[in-house]
Amino acid sequence: MWQGRTRLLAQNTLPCDVRQMVLEAPELVNLAKAGQFVHVRCGDDYDPLLRRPISINRLDPVQGRLTLLYKIMGHGTEQLSRYGAGDYVDIMGPLGTGFALQGEKPLLIGGGLGIAPLLALADALAPRTVTMVMGARNAAGLICHDDFADVCGGLHVATNDGSAGYGGHAPVLAEELFARHGHDMIYACGPVPMLRYIQQMSARLAIPCQLSLEEFMACGVGACLGCTCQPAGEGAPYKKVCTDGPVFWSGEVILHDH
Ligand SMILES: Cc1cc2nc3c(=O)[nH]c(=O)nc-3n(C[C@H](O)[C@H](O)[C@H](O)COP(=O)(O)OP(=O)(O)OC[C@H]3O[C@@H](n4cnc5c(N)ncnc54)[C@H](O)[C@@H]3O)c2cc1C
Ligand code: FES
Repeated sequence: MWQGRTRLLAQNTLPCDVRQMVLEAPELVNLAKAGQFVHVRCGDDYDPLLRRPISINRLDPVQGRLTLLYKIMGHGTEQLSRYGAGDYVDIMGPLGTGFALQGEKPLLIGGGLGIAPLLALADALAPRTVTMVMGARNAAGLICHDDFADVCGGLHVATNDGSAGYGGHAPVLAEELFARHGHDMIYACGPVPMLRYIQQMSARLAIPCQLSLEEFMACGVGACLGCTCQPAGEGAPYKKVCTDGPVFWSGEVILHDH
């Protein structure tokens, strides 16, 4: 694990007011794997005191660069949005478990900003034929569409209002694709109802599946028990999303709405 001040190369505003940060962090990038996250200090004066977890969106080992995507949710991310190119941002990581890279025909399913860790995963799965299903409320919410188009063999879009691609939810479209393409591994990240559907789908189809979860976090390193989630087995110890996850095998956890 690495911790230090990293130079912010760019802070861009993407559609739907999503922010993209590109950081120069060669030491961290060398250690990092798709599916892991970084713990970010959002202000220079310890306000807020606690770091905020953000998924690794993309790794560029050649240039030693790390890309993060985030939405302004509250004080921390609002502070983060004030940084500009040339500023320094204190980050800690990589933290948590990464995705297991397996399957010859993996299917990735991302809902909303849940697409964030799946771009690094699509890069890592190359040269396999990766199929991505991205879901959003409407066409404007399809973040990183062109990046996924560049790295994925197949890219399918679902929007709730039908303004782009399939009119409906991403996992329903994904289930239709199984019948046609015989995928052998599922990876997903997004809202809990979507992940729950995918959990049931993977059990129904008997296809291995990994889910990337989000939970409120304080320490980020397994010390405070602030991020626990319920394990599937009766009597099994609670799992810490920060160190046992954020990536879990689908059958390992019981998902609860926040
Ligand atoms: C492993 C992991 C990876 C993450 N990756 C990303 C990412 O790539 N991009 C991104 O935008 N966000 C990501 N998040 C969520 C991000 O950490 C929170 O949005 C952020 O901490 C909010 O901080 P804040 O101070 O701006 O908001 P706060 O003031 O802390 O909260 C504002 C509002 O957001 C809600 N909220 C805060 N954290 C979460 C959460 N984890 N889940 C659901 N609701 C929450 C609060 O209930 C509150 O209503 C990730 C979280 C985890 C655990
Ligand atoms: S955030 Fe402290 S144990 Fe996970």
